[in-house]
Amino acid sequence: MRIAVLGTGGVGRALAGRLAELGHDVTVGTRDPAATLARAEPGSFREWADARPAVGLASYPDAAAGADVVFNATPGDATLDVLAAAGAGSLAGKVLVDVSNPLDFSAGFPPTLFVKDTDSLGERVQAAYPDARVVKTLQTMNNSIMVHPESVGGTAFVAGDDADAKAVVTALLAEMGHADVLDLGDITGSRGTEMLLPLWVRLMGVLGTAEFNFKIVR
Ligand SMILES: NC(=O)c1ccc[n+]([C@@H]2O[C@H](COP(=O)([O-])OP(=O)(O)OC[C@H]3O[C@@H](n4cnc5c(N)ncnc54)[C@H](OP(=O)(O)O)[C@@H]3O)[C@@H](O)[C@H]2O)c1
Repeated sequence: MRIAVLGTGGVGRALAGRLAELGHDVTVGTRDPAATLARAEPGSFREWADARPAVGLASYPDAAAGADVVFNATPGDATLDVLAAAGAGSLAGKVLVDVSNPLDFSAGFPPTLFVKDTDSLGERVQAAYPDARVVKTLQTMNNSIMVHPESVGGTAFVAGDDADAKAVVTALLAEMGHADVLDLGDITGSRGTEMLLPLWVRLMGVLGTAEFNFKIVR
């Protein structure tokens, strides 16, 4: 499958690396590919990409245009700008997997949510791109667990309006090792999963690690 991962941070790298390892044709999206590759300090995207020659790098619009499935792995407060740069035409008809969280760090740590209760970032993305098929998933766990859930187990939630898109995403989740995928229904299911983030942040402090996950026990 041709997959674009918009975002060169920890989440974008984890998803792109794992999906490429699984045999997918993966291109990472960034604002300015030349500028991103010019940063060569330890821990840079350049260093990561040099070790993964199969993963491509392109601008947001070029990455999205060439993909069947597009992951948004950018900060919540940049997400709508990133998708605007990718372009509505490049997103139309595509499965758009949103793993972002609406975190507001303007008052420091812990962050608050800039949308909640009666709306969500997942819904805002779907409303802004009605021709894209948005699926909210994976943002309730650290990126290491997104791509290797067997390390701790737990539940991956999916929410979205398009059943076929959720089936595509559920299959990708299964490839990455997610054995427990819980469908929360339409995209308004994003509200609850995004509002788990204050609890997630608190748990990280209490447990002293990000290596944990939520698990729904029936
Ligand atoms: N960290 C985790 O394990 C984790 C877990 C669950 C969910 N999430 C969510 O996943 C998303 C990505 O997390 P992350 O830690 O990987 O993010 P990050 O490192 O902060 O994001 C970096 C990416 O965002 C792009 N970006 C940043 N500001 C931008 C702007 N103003 N306009 C356009 N692009 C911009 C950067 O572009 P360039 O490439 O051009 O520099 C880069 O590609 C976030 O929404 C986060 O809340 C994170």
